[in-house]
Amino acid sequence: MDKLHIKGGAHLNGRIPVSGAKNSALKLMVACLLTDEPITLTNMPNLADTRFLAQLLETLGVEVYWPKGDSTCHLNGAELKSTIAPYDQVRKMRASFNVLGPLIARSGHATVSLPGGCAIGARPVDLHLQALEAMGADLRVEQGYVKAAAIHGLKGAHVNFAMPSVGATEHAMLTATLAQGETVLENAAREPEIEDLAVCLNSMGAKITGAGTSKIRIEGVEKLSGTTHSVMPDRIEAGTYAMAAAAAGGDVTLEGAPVAALGAMIGKLREAGVTVEADEAAATLRIIRNGSRLKSVSVSTQPHPGFPTDLQAQFMALMSLADGTSIIRETIFENRFMHAPELSRLGADITVRGQEAVVKGVPQLTAAPVMATDLRASVSLVIAGLAAEGETVVNRIYHLDRGFERLEAKLNACGASIERRSEDED
Ligand code: EPU
Repeated sequence: MDKLHIKGGAHLNGRIPVSGAKNSALKLMVACLLTDEPITLTNMPNLADTRFLAQLLETLGVEVYWPKGDSTCHLNGAELKSTIAPYDQVRKMRASFNVLGPLIARSGHATVSLPGGCAIGARPVDLHLQALEAMGADLRVEQGYVKAAAIHGLKGAHVNFAMPSVGATEHAMLTATLAQGETVLENAAREPEIEDLAVCLNSMGAKITGAGTSKIRIEGVEKLSGTTHSVMPDRIEAGTYAMAAAAAGGDVTLEGAPVAALGAMIGKLREAGVTVEADEAAATLRIIRNGSRLKSVSVSTQPHPGFPTDLQAQFMALMSLADGTSIIRETIFENRFMHAPELSRLGADITVRGQEAVVKGVPQLTAAPVMATDLRASVSLVIAGLAAEGETVVNRIYHLDRGFERLEAKLNACGASIERRSEDED
């Protein structure tokens, strides 16, 4: 297993290009199941997760042409050969579950493994299933699998979600494009990735309005066509590098940044005393901190447009170094503080009380070996390592490879010193 060796203390100066968004790409790829015409996705991030989903789509019969390292991915679902998504493929990556509705819409039936819990929480899929049932799918859970059929086809439905779920909103939206009649999704999630998916589906001939608001209307159509769509830039990757620059100090410009989608984070960075120059038209975000101390700021994660849970761990790393005490509340997932004890190994002063972490800033972090159990937690340790004194070793970095494209290359180009080594090199 690979590790990252990070020599801390260097300021970051330079420019970092933002990649395509993982959490958008994963849903856009699934859209290929809804049409027998080819779909081309550009600005695709080369990540373990997107490659993994490509394999599942191949298992289902989709022809995938995506040369290694290429940012253009061609998907052709002209002839599906299976409607079964096996346990191993869904368990390892939850977004795989989103093939269920599209497979029912296309083939009339599907068998998809339940994803199970994961490192950050129980993460049930009840809202996904409720929406599919409302559209007329007959669902049975047997031996860990959802067996679904819609013998008479899917019908538009009125779905009022008990809470805004990104995955359930996207899953219902994908499925409803081919249902007969109108579907209305209320209390829908408003994350920018949902809008990106709607833009792509509409370019395939779907009739979706309201994506990005809490009420989405989908007028079902008989057939969708192929399309070419550029994956939106990754707001979480951009936010992560913004915080890395703020923690290490320096002057970094993020290029191709989804500025409008990052309002909550930009506000918190400014409150913390970081200079942020945001230029929406140029899609750049310049982060500057030269010498000044960080101020502690409290934050509570919220559905979009609030502060994203996917940036909570990174913000905690930053607040570990701020003057004063900040309270960080996690309201989306029940177990998303796994990074706190690891940050403490680097000298951070963090006390977790239920859904709240009390972070008392310290003047300096010091290097240590650390590891984390999920993607965002792992990258928070990289941020802390960049600011810490000495050489931090981050173990189990396969988590990072699930969601950050060329992480070391991008940070090293700005003056960081990060080296990837395999276990046997130590
Ligand atoms: N929930 C339910 N029932 C459901 C669905 C969700 O109770 O049927 C709960 C979840 O357990 C959670 C909350 O609702 O407590 C919000 O979950 P949501 O469905 O919004 O999240 P998701 O679709 O599973 C996506 C991202 C996550 C991101 C969340 C929140 C993808 C592939 N994943 O997950 O990203 O944290 O939205 O913004 O889009 C990551 O990239 O590291 C990551 C975890």
